[in-house]
Amino acid sequence: MTDRRILLRRIPDGTPRPEDFEVAEAPPGPPLGPGQVRVRAEWLSLDPYVRALLSGRHFLRMPQPGEVLPAKAVARVVESRHATWRTGDRLVLETGLQSSAVSDAADAWRLHPGHVPASTALGILGMPGMTAYFGLLDVGQVRAGEVVLVSSAAGPVGSMVGQIAMLKGARAIGIAGSAEKCDWVRRVARFEACIDYRREDVDARLRELAPDGVHVFFDNTGGDLQHTVIGRRHLALGARVVLCGLVTQYNLKEAPPGPNLGVLMASRAKILPMVVYDYEHRREEFLREALAWHGAGRLAFKEDIVEGLEAAPAHFCRLMRGENFGKSLIRL
Ligand SMILES: NC(=O)c1ccc[n+]([C@@H]2O[C@H](COP(=O)([O-])OP(=O)(O)OC[C@H]3O[C@@H](n4cnc5c(N)ncnc54)[C@H](OP(=O)(O)O)[C@@H]3O)[C@@H](O)[C@H]2O)c1
Repeated sequence: MTDRRILLRRIPDGTPRPEDFEVAEAPPGPPLGPGQVRVRAEWLSLDPYVRALLSGRHFLRMPQPGEVLPAKAVARVVESRHATWRTGDRLVLETGLQSSAVSDAADAWRLHPGHVPASTALGILGMPGMTAYFGLLDVGQVRAGEVVLVSSAAGPVGSMVGQIAMLKGARAIGIAGSAEKCDWVRRVARFEACIDYRREDVDARLRELAPDGVHVFFDNTGGDLQHTVIGRRHLALGARVVLCGLVTQYNLKEAPPGPNLGVLMASRAKILPMVVYDYEHRREEFLREALAWHGAGRLAFKEDIVEGLEAAPAHFCRLMRGENFGKSLIRL
């Protein structure tokens, strides 16, 4: 089997196109040094933040043309000179978008037997799920009986936000970009309601669904939805806006102007940034509770899977056009 990898050919201009990337054969990896493992990827994750990295506005390093695109993987150790990991172990770690990698495994953790299927370790039971968990419970401080509004509600972060809200006794309202996504959010993930922002009047629907305002607005998108929710005064007194993602901006050259924040004074609302890396030391806390919910069948999840590394560029471009439905994954 030839090892392959996805390289950045050039920084995308606007919405990425498959020609911005290239599929390349990987040279045979170097012999392992002490403390290293060689892993073979089984699942690779595509995440919107990678587009933000390519715009140079992310706080992490901007990838350069010729480099392998960043990606987390579920991968099997095929050779080890590491004190902890043995051949055959299945790990979750950063490998880049490639079929095989040599790593010091500094960020690796063992795949838990409760990660069924294993791909959930990259979705609802991995980084996106952990973002939802701490973003809602720690940053958003949600309480039973409150109303939680979340954008991109059919995605891995958004769908977990609403489901965790309900498991904690709050009400969940989603916003998503198609009738099909909204149907899944309501009927499968069982949110109380979901607003199709492409076809419905978000302002009017929010007035119906949450006449007293929302207590937690979990913002995954920024853009017009943020303007409507904050600017049209849908925040309840003392509301918390969890600023989690700005996916509407990642394809833009310049960040657009923000909302008029004067309206926050009336609601005494707080805007609170969420960065999942700040919670790495509390991963076990998340996993304990999320794996128990998952094991009891209480979490719905949707995956958007393509086969083979060659399909990765087009699948990433689909994600960045907002056409994915569920967690974007590559199966190898
Ligand atoms: N702060 C953190 O630590 C952290 C960690 C993980 C993720 N995030 C952020 O959380 C958000 C959700 O991430 P996710 O992993 O769960 O993925 P995701 O929801 O599947 O993200 C893609 C979705 O974003 C929506 N979207 C809205 N406007 C878009 C636009 N202009 N272009 C492309 N997509 C658009 C689309 O859904 P609709 O059709 O419903 O609009 C699309 O399907 C992202 O903003 C991500 O960067 C933040």
